[in-house]
Amino acid sequence: MTATAMRTHRCGSLRSSHAGNEVALAGWVHKRRDLGGLIFFDLRDRDGLVQVALGPEWAPPEMMELASGVGLETVVSLQGVVELRPDDARNPEMTTGDVEVKAHFLRVLSKATRLPIPVWRVKGEDLPAEELRLLHRDIDLRRPEVHANLFLRHRLLQRARATLSRLDFWEVETPVLTRPTPEGARDYLVPSRVNKGRFYALPQSPQIYKQILMVSGIDRYFQIARCFRDEDLRADRQPEFTQIDIEASFVEPQDVFEAVEAVMVDLWDEAGESVTGPFERLKYREVMEKFGTDKPDLRFEYVISDFSDRVKGRGFKVFDDAVEAGQRVRGIAISGGAALSRKDVDSLTAEAKKVGASGLATLKNQNSKLTGPLSKLEGMTPELAGIQEGDLLVIAAGPDAVTSPVLDRVRRGVISRLKPKPAAKHAFAWIVDFPLFEWHDESANGTFAHHPFTAPHEDDIAALKEGNLGNVRSRHYDLVYNGNELGSGSIRITDPDLQIAVLERLGIAREEAERRFGFLLNALRAGAPPHGGFAVGFDRVVMLLAGASNLRDVIAFPKTTAARALLEQAPTDVPPSDLDALGLRISDG
Ligand code: AMO
Repeated sequence: MTATAMRTHRCGSLRSSHAGNEVALAGWVHKRRDLGGLIFFDLRDRDGLVQVALGPEWAPPEMMELASGVGLETVVSLQGVVELRPDDARNPEMTTGDVEVKAHFLRVLSKATRLPIPVWRVKGEDLPAEELRLLHRDIDLRRPEVHANLFLRHRLLQRARATLSRLDFWEVETPVLTRPTPEGARDYLVPSRVNKGRFYALPQSPQIYKQILMVSGIDRYFQIARCFRDEDLRADRQPEFTQIDIEASFVEPQDVFEAVEAVMVDLWDEAGESVTGPFERLKYREVMEKFGTDKPDLRFEYVISDFSDRVKGRGFKVFDDAVEAGQRVRGIAISGGAALSRKDVDSLTAEAKKVGASGLATLKNQNSKLTGPLSKLEGMTPELAGIQEGDLLVIAAGPDAVTSPVLDRVRRGVISRLKPKPAAKHAFAWIVDFPLFEWHDESANGTFAHHPFTAPHEDDIAALKEGNLGNVRSRHYDLVYNGNELGSGSIRITDPDLQIAVLERLGIAREEAERRFGFLLNALRAGAPPHGGFAVGFDRVVMLLAGASNLRDVIAFPKTTAARALLEQAPTDVPPSDLDALGLRISDG
């Protein structure tokens, strides 16, 4: 950056090599203290903090007076000389801690007359409550930690763009005012004024557009795409979020994996982490069996096993009934798990109940003694349970649809409590061979497991035609990392008749399919290359690489879990005249 009269350096850039230089700085007064005639404050800009000192020996009296009245967060510019701090006054915790600026000229550019939350706080002091911080996000965004997250986000974005450009992908922007794109959430709708009674939908993803771009011969597309989904929010979900969205023609999954792996390797590198591809590939059925989830944290052992044969007929009616009913008794032998207290086990059980368990049965092997409800099973031995001294066995019985989420929760709970040493720092894996359909209730129609444009597995097209839907695998794949779903994608359906058949299986009749997706079906009828793609949940990547636990920490202006923007107070009500213009009326219901 070129020097201007306003400033010659950024505050955070000053080092001992600048000692003796006359500098001009500008920024916010971060923290201040007056020490017997000397006035010190830390001046902050985007690059960091530097200590500024004003004293009667080098600053004229009017500057001393001005400085004595300067409050926190006031914006000032100043001129001074960089000096080395005496050895005992150096601060190793500040990157500029070897120097201070002895200011002889100070100007107040803008006073902070309203400061509802502090920016500077005593070390170790808690942040203000999140609601309050989001309400005053303008101030909260000044925190150096937030700046660090936004800077990381910026660098990751540039890196993703550079990598995809190098791999011959073109960045193409697709509309935000569009038709509904089914991705499993509700749409945000935007009423049209010029077409009264009609609505645009904000895109849940650019899925259909990117497929049409392939039909148009764009061959390799990417977009840093903003997506909008009206769904129940959690720590890893926001109503609007960003995807690194890609699509490519004439590809097999392997080609997509290689492109995504290249992006991931570069993004992790940008954050100072070294990872290498290719990533492990695991089948959906296999991970559901071993970990009870399609996004397992593969840094840790603790694998689920089937205990049905070992526990049936040993005097536990719940187990016998479950096996009799064709269900299973599954469990995890937790090495070192005997260290968990009774309270830990009780809270694990409470968590398991929240996801559907009727209870958990446990067996502890401690001090050469078996304890816990399972010790009462006839003939129970450590060998039968598959546990050694110091271990804990946790068991759940029921249909897999219940025991899988329960044991996944148990596994995560045990990992967070026992904190075992991870086998690796970064555990990426591709999960493949997902089912094409899933059922959330007893109704005959399944719903799509991902989105309805996912191609069925080549070997399962006959099963699809026969209506044997439960056995139809898809050409969908997910990328998981340390227990998080980073993104997903698939090879798409390019045969319009097959696309209609899949939509019909989802309960969408041919006419409705033509009405809703005719523009895609027609595109497919005009000569479509085989194609597939992927979307990386970019906010999640930034969150994980920033070491944050919440997406809100890596988004400049996030929404609350109630989908509200507190700073600007959105959504808002609108004047009746605006509703009239749109032909809308609010009903009381
Ligand atoms: P999918 O719906 O799986 O796939 O989304 C891809 C990735 O986007 C992230 N994500 C979210 N991040 C924050 N808040 C949300 N509400 C949210 N929802 C999803 C996740 C997810 O893995 N069109 C397909 C991709 C494709 O088939 O190419 C799609 O959108 O990390």
